[in-house]
Amino acid sequence: MLRPSLQWIFDVTLLTRVAATANKCCIDSLPIPTLFGGSILSIDAVQVDNSTAPSSSIDFCNVSIDYTHPGQNDRIHISLWLPNTWNGRFQGVGGGGWITNATVEDMISAVSQGYAAVTTDGGHTATTNTSSWAMLSPGNINMYLLQDFASVSLNDMTVIGKQLTEAYYGRPILRSYWNGCSTGGRQGLMMAQRYPDAYDGILAISPAINWAKFIVAEFWPQRVMHEMGYFPSQCEFSAITAAAVEACDELDGLRDGVIEMIGLCDFDPRSAVGKAYTCGDATGNVTQEAADVVHSIWAGARGADGRFQWYGFPPGAPLNALANTTCSSNGTCTGVPFAISKDWHQLFLRKDPSFDPYTMTQAQWDAAFHSSVNQYTSIISTSDPDLTQFKKAGGKMITWHGMADELIFYNGTVDYYEHVLEMDPGARDYYRFYAAPGVGHCHGGVGAVPTDPLAQLVRWVEEGEVPTTLDANRTVEGKRWKQALCVYPSSSRYVSGDPALASSFRCL
Ligand SMILES: *[C@@H]1O[C@H](CO)[C@@H](O)[C@H](O)[C@H]1NC(C)=O
Ligand SMILES: *[C@@H]1O[C@H](CO)[C@@H](O)[C@H](O)[C@H]1NC(C)=O
Ligand SMILES: *[C@@H]1O[C@H](CO)[C@@H](O)[C@H](O)[C@H]1NC(C)=O
Ligand SMILES: *[C@@H]1O[C@H](CO)[C@@H](O)[C@H](O)[C@H]1NC(C)=O
Ligand SMILES: *[C@@H]1O[C@H](CO)[C@@H](O)[C@H](O)[C@H]1NC(C)=O
Ligand SMILES: *[C@@H]1O[C@H](CO)[C@@H](O)[C@H](O)[C@H]1NC(C)=O
Ligand SMILES: *[C@@H]1O[C@H](CO)[C@@H](O)[C@H](O)[C@H]1NC(C)=O
Ligand SMILES: *[C@@H]1O[C@H](CO)[C@@H](O)[C@H](O)[C@H]1NC(C)=O
Ligand SMILES: *[C@@H]1O[C@H](CO)[C@@H](O)[C@H](O)[C@H]1NC(C)=O
Repeated sequence: MLRPSLQWIFDVTLLTRVAATANKCCIDSLPIPTLFGGSILSIDAVQVDNSTAPSSSIDFCNVSIDYTHPGQNDRIHISLWLPNTWNGRFQGVGGGGWITNATVEDMISAVSQGYAAVTTDGGHTATTNTSSWAMLSPGNINMYLLQDFASVSLNDMTVIGKQLTEAYYGRPILRSYWNGCSTGGRQGLMMAQRYPDAYDGILAISPAINWAKFIVAEFWPQRVMHEMGYFPSQCEFSAITAAAVEACDELDGLRDGVIEMIGLCDFDPRSAVGKAYTCGDATGNVTQEAADVVHSIWAGARGADGRFQWYGFPPGAPLNALANTTCSSNGTCTGVPFAISKDWHQLFLRKDPSFDPYTMTQAQWDAAFHSSVNQYTSIISTSDPDLTQFKKAGGKMITWHGMADELIFYNGTVDYYEHVLEMDPGARDYYRFYAAPGVGHCHGGVGAVPTDPLAQLVRWVEEGEVPTTLDANRTVEGKRWKQALCVYPSSSRYVSGDPALASSFRCL
């Protein structure tokens, strides 16, 4: 990997700024990229200025590349946005859910900071009908498209994107970064694990790692409610979550509406039985059934003999996504399964789009869990803790994960990081994981959200400035609180002073 000196970086950055105006955004001035195992179908380049761009503050060369893997019958679309004013860096931008590629907003964000930004659709378009790309026919998964989504297309877009970026600017790329959350976080970890030379810095937020296990387990909350024969309203769930926060908030020394010490929180949902709740017209008292449901959801997926399968939610995380319910005016509620988990059970495990996952017996559930791990771990779990090659390539990686993540069980990332540390106790030198108490999936929640983790990653890669803590902030009663997220396993405790200042806390 090319590692120019800082002096050289500075010079080249100046040069590329000057050279930028001389670039021609047209296919004649770009080479046809080469990709081992791939064949280019079309390439197109159109200048987008601030009158036609999706954001008035950017102008860039919009390069589109379509290619196929001969014999696999796929057609993959890559978008490469090359800004007029380039900062010398390349950014691979990740997707979300079943969508391989980035949102337009994420691309704008990268380009407006001067990055050459690339993303790929992985060979399938965004659709709510997953079977339209995942299945060739009932009983038959499109394994090539699954593989494109899981790994292959991510490296392809990097190889192709880097060639075209360097040709366009006539200069080598100085540093390359991955930036993604959720599926994008999993993709970042896939790059570190399988394509360790591709990126100098990887920001892998709230990653959808351990896929073959956790996507199965995401149906567990619906299964629990179905087995119990009781679907609580979201208002009833919120009452229990609020009681948990009330009970465990102060374990870190400060009452601030956030549970930081989830491991020390032994709140039992059954202690909330009888508690009155109100949401608009809906009023009621927490039932024994709802408390039992929450108890099982927090415990996580379990086998017939009570054997651990996967983590549940820490107390305080909202239950509105995986234990979603909808209630009719007479007060009867039904479950609303999370689509990705339902797809996984129907399409990838049962291979039958008409299968109803609520109907599984415990024995069938256990078989499905095992089958998922057995068939798909090497394809998409992205749980390989051996980062030796990434470390050798000089890479740096940052992960943060919200403890109140409502979609991806926070403890799955703890599990992965523990395995990384087991393989290499010195892994913090190149891979740091920060827990974000009270933060939801990728953003949101009442806790402090990381402010600019990509900038901290860039400083770590380029200037050797180790991110001892991750800068974060939150708004409490209209006031901005600055906080510092701690590297796992240490966590932030309130010591004394103004809680709006990061210096009032210590990582212990
Ligand atoms: C677009 O760019 C031109 C040239 O840089 C500038 O004069 C103009 O103000 C920009 N328009 C907007 C809406 O930003
Ligand atoms: C970039 O080009 C592609 C292909 O021509 C087009 O579909 C897309 O809308 C363009 N994007 C922007 C932001 O102009
Ligand atoms: C993502 O892929 C879809 C489907 O191919 C496409 O419509 C969309 O323009 C792509 N987004 C970007 C930012 O390239
Ligand atoms: C989803 O796609 C499959 C395969 O293309 C098709 O058979 C099915 O009718 C579609 N379902 C819906 C609800 O559109
Ligand atoms: C989840 O992770 C936290 C560390 O942040 C730990 O204290 C807790 O015990 C874990 N929970 C489970 C169920 O493993
Ligand atoms: C619900 O709880 C309230 C307050 O504790 C109590 O006054 C009321 O009687 C309870 N309602 C029912 C239906 O149990
Ligand atoms: C819960 O289900 C309702 C009804 O289908 C839907 O409108 C809502 O968006 C879902 N909520 C979440 C967080 O998925
Ligand atoms: C309540 O309404 C739903 C949908 O309208 C209906 O299916 C259900 O039978 C009703 N339940 C009772 C107890 O009336
Ligand atoms: C954190 O600070 C940034 C500015 O640095 C601001 O844009 C953002 O809204 C703040 N976030 C919260 C949750 O207060």
